[in-house]
Formats: sequence, structure tokens, C-alpha cells
Amino acid sequence: MADPRHYEIAVIGGDGTGPEVVEEGKKVLETAGKKFGINFSFTDFDFGGERYKKTGETISDQEIEDLKKFRAIYLGAIGHPDVAPGILELGILLKLRFTLDQYINLRPVKLYPGIDCPLKDKGPEDIDFIVVRENTGGLYTGHGGVTRKGTPHEVATQVMVYDRQMVDRCLKYSFELAKERKDEGKPGKLTLVNKTNVLTNVGDLWFRAFMEMKESYPGIETDYNHIDAACMWMVKNPEWYDVMVIPNMFGDIITDLGAMIQGGMGIAAGGNINPEGTSMFEPIGGSAPKYTGMNIINPLAAIEAGRMMLKHLGEPEAAKSIENAVSDVCTKIKSLSAGKMGYSTSEVGDMVASQI
Ligand code: IPM
Ligand code: MG
Repeated sequence: MADPRHYEIAVIGGDGTGPEVVEEGKKVLETAGKKFGINFSFTDFDFGGERYKKTGETISDQEIEDLKKFRAIYLGAIGHPDVAPGILELGILLKLRFTLDQYINLRPVKLYPGIDCPLKDKGPEDIDFIVVRENTGGLYTGHGGVTRKGTPHEVATQVMVYDRQMVDRCLKYSFELAKERKDEGKPGKLTLVNKTNVLTNVGDLWFRAFMEMKESYPGIETDYNHIDAACMWMVKNPEWYDVMVIPNMFGDIITDLGAMIQGGMGIAAGGNINPEGTSMFEPIGGSAPKYTGMNIINPLAAIEAGRMMLKHLGEPEAAKSIENAVSDVCTKIKSLSAGKMGYSTSEVGDMVASQI
């Protein structure tokens, strides 16, 4: 019988600094693996801007099928300065999310001790929540079109699309997560974020589904915020949030705000999750082309993505050991920003690994 604690991981280093940070993440995963009796085999895939420039290919349907055989995907970054915006994002990142039905985008917003927070008088005890961004629907579905293009009467639409089962499966995941956090001693509160005062169709669908589902979770405290107000409260009272559930585009925007209040893109990670299929874990900061190959980019976001992957694979102890090590290293580095950490990319990776 195959060793249940052997994990086949597909690695997409991708563009810019992606490969460098993923290398540090693998180093940390392997160190944690040794300590906890876990085995990884990593298989590299070369999807990204360089390959696109050479071959014109993003990612083929056959390659998607190949990826489905892996337990998880570990992604560095997608985005190349020589490739027009949209091609790689749609052709690789979003194609992976959609075809692998990774309907949850899980983005923790946690301020580690020692990290500068731009919010006055807020500390690690105030900023520890997690955003569940719906990841396959809404404004990202491509519904809509253009007519009379290039004329003064051009019409363009991009439709926010949700059906009840998409909403329900995302809410279910969020309620379960709130329950799990409650068991871990966190508040176990779920806040729905939407815009019901304007989105009287889609917002109403989410709101009714939420109100119905909460009946099945009597132990979970619930709340509702409009998206604009949530932007305000996240800055003024981030301690109000524990789990936030939010449609795709609103979630895209608010998780960049979240990354800033947890110290910056240098530490922000996310998981694109299909609870029944192949999930993908990534630092959310992008490819940072101007820092490529300089060994100065912060690898902590990629290391955090690796931690989330371990937790998802059912290895909470190993994941916790990475969390503790990252937390410790955060008190030692000078800043999360590239070139200002006081250490190189590989030194930060080594420091995390040696703490495990
Ligand atoms: C993100 C990114 C992507 C998104 C882009 C690159 C398509 O901003 O992962 O948040 O909009 O989801
Ligand atoms: Mg984004």
C-alpha cells in the first residue's frame, strides 16, 4: 500500500521571483517533513511567461488533466512584463482555478509579532482572521460581451453570475471553518460581506442563503457587512472579524487590504481550494519582476503558502511547526519588504528551516 504520508506535489515556479520563493518554501517543507515523518516528491512544471513567449502556449487541457493526479499544486507567481495583461492571468492562473473547480480562495489575515502594522494601536491580538473568497464565480466568469466596439456607442457588459449551489457550497465551507476555529479557541464568528443595498439580485441570493444556513450552525455567531463598510471596519476595528465570506471580486479587493494590515505582500498567502479535488497554494504578492534573481525578495509568503498546503493535506502538527518558526523569524527580520529584511531570500528560508 502506498505510504499515506507521501505527497506528490506539482510545482509551478512561474514568473519573476516565483521560482526563488518556491525554492525556499520547498526547503522548509522538506525540513518539516523530516521532523514529522512526511515525504514529498516535487514535480516541476514550466507554465509561465517565458514558456508563453517561446511557444505561445499557456496551459493545455492535457496538462490540466496531468495536474489532477497530484495531491496539491505549489505555485510561485504568474505575470510577465513582456506579456500583455490578461493573457497569463486568464490562461494560467484563472484557468487552473476554474478547471480544477477550486471554488474557495482562503486568505488568512494574521499579524505576526514583530511585524510593523500600518494601523495605529493595533497588534497581533487584534488582527487574526481569515477571508473565504468565492473563487470561481461572480464577475470572473466572463459572462457578458461587447457590441459596437470602437464606436461612440460601444456597449460592454461583465455580469456578476452566481447560482444557489455555488453560494451554498462556499457558505458551507465558511460555516465549517468558523466551527473549526471555535474549536481551536478562536471566536468562531462568520461575517457575510456583500452589497445587498445595491445588488438586489445577487446580494439577496447570498443573504437569503446565509440566513437559511445559519439555522444549522447555532453555535456560530453571524454578522453582515456591506463591502464598503467592511473596508472601513477592517481598518478601524479589525478585531471584529474572525471568518469573512465574500464574493469573488469583492474578495480580490479586500484581501489586498488584508495583506497590508498584516504587514504587507511579503507575508500574504492563499489557498485555492477544491475540498474534493486538487488544490493550489500560492503567495499572493505576484511576480515582482524587478527583483528577479537578486536573492532579496521575501520568501515568507511562499513559506506560509506551504504551511497552508500542509494543513490542507491533513498534517496540522507539521503546519503548526512552520507557523511557529515563521512567527519567530518575524521578530528577527527588519522588514517584510524586498531588500530591507536585513537578510537574503535564502537566509530567511534557512532561518525558518532551522527553527523547525
Ligand atoms: C489574485 C490576483 C488575481 C485575481 C489576478 C492576477 C487574476 O489579483 O489572486 O488576487 O484577480 O484573482
Ligand atoms: Mg488580487
